[in-house]
Parts: sequence; C-alpha cells; structure tokens
Amino acid sequence: MTHVIVLGNEKGGSGKSTAAMHIIVALMKSNARVAAIDLDMRQKSLTRYLENRQAFSDLKGAALLFPENPTVAPSSLDSREAAWREESQRLTDTFASLAHCDFVVIDCPGADTHLSRVAHAHADTIVTPLNDSFVDFDLLARLDPKTGDVLGPSVYSDMVWQARKKRAMSGVKGGIDWIVMRNRLSATRANNKKHMGEKLDDLAGRIGFRLARGFGDRVIYRELFPNGLTLLDLGGKSAPVKLSTMSHVTARLEIRSLVATLNLPRRDEPEAETAAA
Ligand SMILES: Nc1ncnc2c1ncn2[C@@H]1O[C@H](COP(=O)(O)OP(=O)(O)OP(=O)(O)O)[C@@H](O)[C@H]1O
Ligand SMILES: [Mg+2]
Repeated sequence: MTHVIVLGNEKGGSGKSTAAMHIIVALMKSNARVAAIDLDMRQKSLTRYLENRQAFSDLKGAALLFPENPTVAPSSLDSREAAWREESQRLTDTFASLAHCDFVVIDCPGADTHLSRVAHAHADTIVTPLNDSFVDFDLLARLDPKTGDVLGPSVYSDMVWQARKKRAMSGVKGGIDWIVMRNRLSATRANNKKHMGEKLDDLAGRIGFRLARGFGDRVIYRELFPNGLTLLDLGGKSAPVKLSTMSHVTARLEIRSLVATLNLPRRDEPEAETAAA
C-alpha cells in the first residue's frame, strides 16, 4: 500500500517545498521507496531542488539518495471539464505506476488548482506548513477582529474538508490525517508565538488537525537549496557538508520530530485502518 503525503497550503512561501524535500530524504534514509511529485508547475521548486541535488552529486561524486520523480503536467485542453477530467486521469495513472513505492510525497503550489485539489483527495496525510503570522492563519480560519475569537474555517480548511468528504464517499478505508506545522518560528517574538499557539490549539480540535512542533527560522534552509541538500544529508563520515553549528543540530531534531509526529506506517507494518478522521 502506497502512503500518499501531500504538502499543501494555498499561501505562498509557507515552506511546503522545503518541508517536502526534508520529508522525502528522511523517508529514503529509512530505506523506504519514495516518489516525489511536484504539482507546482510554475515555480517547480521541488523539481529544481532535485535537479540541484543531482548536479551537486555529479560534481562532488557524493553518494546521495534520490526519489523517483514522475511529472504530472496540467492539462492544456480548452474545456474546463475536459481539462479537469484529463488531470484527474493523469494523477490516477501516475499513482498506478507508483504502486511499488512505500510513499508518494506531493508538493502543491501556493494557490488553488484543480490538480492540487485532486491530490488532496488522494492524501493519507496532509502536511500544512504555516508561517507564524495571522496573515497565514487567515487561510485556516477567520478570527473576530474585535474579540480575536475563532469564527469558523476559511478557504484552505474548506478545501481539506471537501477532500475528506470525497475520500469518505470513494469508500477508501481510513480518513485523512492532517498535520499543521508552524514554520519560521522566531526566537524573539515570544508573545506572538504564544498567541498564535493558543489560536491553533483552539482550531485543531474544531476542524480536525494535529499540530507538529514546526521549524525555527534558520538561514540554513535557504543555504541548502542551491546544492539540493537537506539537513539530513549533513554530518556523518561520508557527508558532503558537515553539521557545523548548534542551530543545525537543533534544526535536524526539528525535522526528526516532524517525521515522528506524522506517525507514518512502517514498511513492515500494515497500514492502520483508522487514521484520524
Ligand atoms: N524554517 C525556515 N527558516 C528560514 N527560511 C525558510 C524556512 N522554511 C523555508 N524557508 C525559506 O523560505 C522560502 C519559501 O520556502 P518554500 O519554497 O519551501 O515555500 P513554499 O510554501 O513551497 O512556497 P510556494 O508556495 O511559493 O511554493 C525559501 O526561500 C526557503 O528556503
Ligand atoms: Mg513550493
């Protein structure tokens, strides 16, 4: 059984591609067979990340792990209905061709597209990175501007709700496990961090997601992209780059913590029948 992990959030720049790449490498390092699909055909950040990794590996002769990386192109048909049908079929065909993989990790664009919606409906796990800002929170839920109370779900939460409904109606066993992870957590803005944490805790129970510990705001994430590396490729005897600071070590713990929180099926275990609804 292939487990599908979708990185999604209609907000741009929240850390989807960065988190996707780290999850992909973490899974490959645990000997899982992994495929990566980049649905952001405009920016192609995950594709570029993997191309940079190949170039670095070729240049340095570094023994790096690579996922399978099929392309799912958006349809160019004029009729919206026909284009949507074609895109759904392309994704279904790609999943069928990846049946030998343990995990398929899908990086979605920071906007609402049909392919992204279809991918969400195929997800076993959705991971939503969220910048630590109420501008990003607004895509999950609306807040009362006077009282600060949560008024109700917002556009992205509605999309996840639709995906859950679609999946339930399709008869697939188990629900979609939705994990929200805060990203770029600041070490200094303690009040904002606390306030945001309280609102997310409140929302988690209401709209059904789990909160992961998240990633701190660290320059290393931006520095790793040009070489296609992740924090998990650093350190160790044969590693191309060494873990150099306490901040890198802490960051690596954050990645491991995220992957542990995802509570993914292990290769030797059958998939749990009842993931979170
Ligand atoms: N924890 C972090 N600390 C510092 N920089 C980060 C962190 N996470 C991501 N970044 C940087 O923020 C930028 C946006 O990240 P990324 O491309 O992963 O977001 P995204 O959600 O995929 O964006 P888009 O919606 O445009 O696809 C990148 O330059 C990335 O290196
Ligand atoms: Mg991206």
